[in-house]
Amino acid sequence: MSLVPTVHLPDDLAAALTRRLAATVPTQASAQVDRLIENYRGATPTAAPVLRDAADAAAYAAYRMPATYAAARSALAALRARTAGWTPAVHLDLGGGTGAARWAVADAWPGDAGPAGTVLDWSAAALDLGRALAAGSATPSVRATTWTRAPLSGAPDLPPADLVTVSYVLGELTPGDRAALVDAAAGAARAGGVVLVAEPGTPDGYARVIAARDRLTAAGFTVLAPCPHSGPCPVTGTDWCHFAARVPRSALHRQVKGGTLPYEDEKFSYVAALRPAGAGADAAPAAHRVVRHPQTRKGQVLLDLCAASGDLTRTTVSKRLGPLYRAARDARWGDPWPPDGTERERPEPSE
Ligand SMILES: C[S@@+](CC[C@H](N)C(=O)[O-])C[C@H]1O[C@@H](n2cnc3c(N)ncnc32)[C@H](O)[C@@H]1O
Repeated sequence: MSLVPTVHLPDDLAAALTRRLAATVPTQASAQVDRLIENYRGATPTAAPVLRDAADAAAYAAYRMPATYAAARSALAALRARTAGWTPAVHLDLGGGTGAARWAVADAWPGDAGPAGTVLDWSAAALDLGRALAAGSATPSVRATTWTRAPLSGAPDLPPADLVTVSYVLGELTPGDRAALVDAAAGAARAGGVVLVAEPGTPDGYARVIAARDRLTAAGFTVLAPCPHSGPCPVTGTDWCHFAARVPRSALHRQVKGGTLPYEDEKFSYVAALRPAGAGADAAPAAHRVVRHPQTRKGQVLLDLCAASGDLTRTTVSKRLGPLYRAARDARWGDPWPPDGTERERPEPSE
């Protein structure tokens, strides 16, 4: 079992990307990809869209969309596990670009009656490509997505939604605009609705997530994932809380990014927080979250956990704990602990 969970693109998204981009996507040496890499490494907000034209949007979709999809899909899986039986009726994707989070939401809550959705972004080129990709979706709700050009700086006026995603966007905004966008997202979330913020799993990305988390909790939201509590984050100093998703690299991906590995690991930080009421009745954070790769020793597994108490702890799960030990051997970085459904399992008698 790989240490990092693999996230596969849905077949219809992979096919749509190949169909739309294989013939036109720039090669790794192209000016578009170089510029995008430079922009996304930099922390400088721009006054105009980074994705300026169809070639930029194509480069982004080939170069970054599989990874941002994987990050959003992983965070949504964690959220879904905390909100038993809840399906958001309306999804609002802020700075949604080519639609990675939109596809991820449809995959997280599958079915023909999946969440209806709107993508807001200021890049017409990204929206055009997103719309074209979505037209190839097997899921009616993805095909029916509304793609709306909208600047998100200032304090945007947003329509109400059950799930508001802000995925890999805050880094492109000034600190003032970031705060205003998080506040606007919080204001758009209906009672029982959720705001999900995801950023690259870097110290800067984590700092932006924590700042967003602080604003959401100050507005009365309850953190559902990844944190087991809504108090101050215990990860401080030079450390930063992040997770990883493994993204298999397609031929298209390799065409843009080069490299020999058949996969790449996307590191991401995120927070999903609930405006209490309604669906919140069944929503609760995990008791603990595994925050590092578990370490396996002979007859025991060492788990580094973030706990509901608000502390970081290390627990040793020994073989004598039977089912819990077997669960610990399967646990991975980013998982809830104990795994859902085993909270009430009792240790087996000592050997
Ligand atoms: C890194 S991309 C992320 C796209 C998408 N959310 C994803 O996860 O793949 C950032 C997106 O935010 C959009 N964006 C950045 N600043 C914006 C602004 N001020 N108003 C509206 N959209 C903005 C960009 O056009 C781009 O599509």
